[in-house]
Amino acid sequence: MAAIAVLGAQWGDEGKGKVAHLLSEDAEFCVRFNGGTNAGHRVIFTKIKVSAAERRGGAVTEEGEFKFHLVPSGALHEHCTGVLGNGMVIDPRALINEIEALRSIKDEEPQLFISPRAHLLLPYHPIIEELAGAASEIGTTSKGIGPAYGDKIQRHGITMADLLFEDVFREKLRRNLEREKQLWGRDSTLSKLKADALADEILELSGSFRERIVDTVKLLNQALDEGKKVIFEGAQGCLLDIDFGTYPYVTSSSATIGGIGVGAGVSPRRIEKIIGVTKAYTTRVGSGPFPTEARDALGERLQLKGQEFGTTTGRPRRCGWLDLVALKYASQINGFTELAVMKLDVLSEFSEIPVTISYRYKNELLEDFPMALPILERCEPAYEKLPGWQEDISHCREFSELPTNAQRYIRFIEEQLGVPVSLISVGPANTDNIFK
Ligand code: IMP
Repeated sequence: MAAIAVLGAQWGDEGKGKVAHLLSEDAEFCVRFNGGTNAGHRVIFTKIKVSAAERRGGAVTEEGEFKFHLVPSGALHEHCTGVLGNGMVIDPRALINEIEALRSIKDEEPQLFISPRAHLLLPYHPIIEELAGAASEIGTTSKGIGPAYGDKIQRHGITMADLLFEDVFREKLRRNLEREKQLWGRDSTLSKLKADALADEILELSGSFRERIVDTVKLLNQALDEGKKVIFEGAQGCLLDIDFGTYPYVTSSSATIGGIGVGAGVSPRRIEKIIGVTKAYTTRVGSGPFPTEARDALGERLQLKGQEFGTTTGRPRRCGWLDLVALKYASQINGFTELAVMKLDVLSEFSEIPVTISYRYKNELLEDFPMALPILERCEPAYEKLPGWQEDISHCREFSELPTNAQRYIRFIEEQLGVPVSLISVGPANTDNIFK
């Protein structure tokens, strides 16, 4: 099995980082192909950098936590090379901080390559996002993601390759900043930014990662030609995808399978396994419709038990029940070959678990995800209630060890979607999993 995609099947935060990190254990490459620092992949791992003295003393394992924003989760493994694909928007300051953080916990220099076609996210992008009011309207992460992709689509974005040509970089930065100042002239924060000083800073910073800018299209396709294992780690999820998500309450990149083609330069035809990652329930951060949202005490219990607070922004996540209408839609778009069901343990305390297999819209029952936002906004979930199991499952490592009702819950998902569940996560640690 050479190429594996790990994709979010909901509104992000499904636990893709944990799955990608697990699968990368014996992979040569782990690749990000969309988004930027809006993503927050939290991975709990069981080895941190140890000094030679400690190693001699045998103290080589300890539990640690790493929060990824730009670097793919597989890069935590010593032998796995991280790749930041062309579909990303990369904040150079954040990149350097993350490489430094990785250095502090890895024994070896982190192996990381960056596409020359990836776009830069620069300090004026978050300012513009704030001025445009996207943070309050869409509930964005305020990282400047939309404006950075906006520059790309309007064809004046600055790429990683531009950093290799100082004169080109300086000129583009000067023009872009000037254009934005004219547009948003009265804003003092933006007008304080000076193109020359900013260019000096970014060029100096880039000195520490310039040699990592290589032809990643060639690198990845060659690796696949040689039968090497490559993991493609999606950021955000299908319902936040710029094309297929709940537009305009979406992010600005392609979070679905097609994102690998456009964001990494690898044909989706080459992907052999497409793993849809879903929580056993649903969460969403930011604004926009969420039919199965539980705006009651049960929703609060999900939030508390699942520790549903954003990795990137710390914002509390909206919580609700599993939405199989939306999940079927995600499966249709992505062609999932298998599913990873995360955080099943969070449901352990509930006596009944509502699951939605259709929506009520006016006097109709809809089994398909609505094609227009105004319909989705008016949909009510039609719940089926599945019996809970009300016992601790965090120690289970085999499917057969799960209580009967937990097994039924998983089988129900498989039957409704027609896709097998291959991984069930029963706790936050790297080892809290059932491979089915
Ligand atoms: P942006 O990506 O910062 O522009 O935010 C657009 C929408 O996507 C907002 O609703 C964000 O909360 C959401 N979003 C972006 N990244 C993530 C993520 O990694 N997890 C969950 N939601 C995200």
